[in-house]
Amino acid sequence: MAQSQFHLGWFLGNSYGVHGWLDQWGGRTAQNWSDPSLQIDLARAIDRACFDFVLLEDSSFVPDNYGSSMDFYLKRASRAPKNDPLPLVPLMLQATKHVGIVPTISTSFYPPFLLARLMATLDLMSEGRVGCNFVTSTAERAAQNFGLTEHIEHHARYEMADEFVEVVKQLWDSWDADAVVGDEAGQMFADPSKVRPINFEGKYFSSRGPLNTARPAQGHPVLVQAGGSPQGRAFASKHMDVVMAAVSTVEEMKKFREDIRARAIANGRDPDSCKVVYQFLPIVAETDSQAQEILAARRAAKDPADILAGMGSIFDIDFSVYDLDEPLSELTTNGQQGTFQRFMAMGNTLREIADSFHFALDEVAGSPDTVAAQMQEMMEEAGGDGFLIAGDLNRRYIAEITDGLVPALQKRGLVRTGFSGTQFRENLMEF
Ligand SMILES: Cc1cc2nc3c(=O)[nH]c(=O)nc-3n(C[C@H](O)[C@H](O)[C@H](O)COP(=O)(O)O)c2cc1C
Repeated sequence: MAQSQFHLGWFLGNSYGVHGWLDQWGGRTAQNWSDPSLQIDLARAIDRACFDFVLLEDSSFVPDNYGSSMDFYLKRASRAPKNDPLPLVPLMLQATKHVGIVPTISTSFYPPFLLARLMATLDLMSEGRVGCNFVTSTAERAAQNFGLTEHIEHHARYEMADEFVEVVKQLWDSWDADAVVGDEAGQMFADPSKVRPINFEGKYFSSRGPLNTARPAQGHPVLVQAGGSPQGRAFASKHMDVVMAAVSTVEEMKKFREDIRARAIANGRDPDSCKVVYQFLPIVAETDSQAQEILAARRAAKDPADILAGMGSIFDIDFSVYDLDEPLSELTTNGQQGTFQRFMAMGNTLREIADSFHFALDEVAGSPDTVAAQMQEMMEEAGGDGFLIAGDLNRRYIAEITDGLVPALQKRGLVRTGFSGTQFRENLMEF
């Protein structure tokens, strides 16, 4: 059967990354790191290339896991500094026409009323072009920035997240779509019979409502999430329009998608209303051999410390205290569960794990058409609704994707060449 079209999203990491600021193509320096023009250029480029959305990653702590110190992270600009991504949203919206903009917020720390109002405002101002990535936040240090001594337990965080989304949806629904009537003769701007309190009383949150701005243009802005654990998947399949999967093989793609779709059906939903996209870091070059050379060089330059420090900061574990070549003892985390299970299953020692662990699909390398063909094959085999491009943030990589890979995908009829709708959700649900 011919593969139908799939969606494209871009994962915009919110710090330089371990080597980002030394990348000769990055165009960013210690003097201009907070200049948003690169992110705005990205938004323009992916809008032109007909991406459905860009996800603005975020977290709110400076890690000090590796070596029990912030040194490793600050020296490499890894996870800090990190500007609040919300101010980028209107800048990106103004520079684009169609692409959906999806900032990240934490259901553990952000007040739901403020979030409901913020997203409603952005959605109204953009006439329906925003979404929200709901994360539970994983780090103890983040929890401590918000007044907790230790982080809320993993399962309880998802219970809270579920309630958070519930109250936010009810606040968006507290104004009917036709509440603003603008009846000049009757001197009625908003019809009071179409606006009501919600009187939400939950275990974690309560909110009287109604929202003090009108219903968002899309009704509900697009809801996005990326939980890998059973609790995360239950949450995602109950509420989300887009679920992002961090998987590294076609087999994992398939299993993840089947699980999400089965859970969506069990929740009484049409599984096609819950789009599964896979995090994907392709290397695209002029020729296959050039791309393979880049991949080989990357493999050779892999430093276990980068992986262990990075992953340690999302598991809240200091891997520097373990011998790289000794069998690893049993470890647990209150951080990201799904990724932790995949990580620990990669080997017996930390060196084996660091050598073979892939956070996402990051081993595809070739000319634009070779990569497009592989994406087609993966989709034919695993099924799925799209890919979330998660490579480096620099103008060269952006061009390789938007001016190299996307035209090759378009030639094969795999991705859109235009937008039929004006709103993000409308375009997302088109196929
Ligand atoms: C593509 C993708 C994007 C993510 N973006 C963020 C983010 O911006 N901020 C964050 O704190 N966590 C982010 N996460 C982590 C998830 O929200 C979640 O914590 C993680 O997948 C583990 O969930 P689990 O404990 O249910 O397995 C992201 C994960 C993926 C796969």
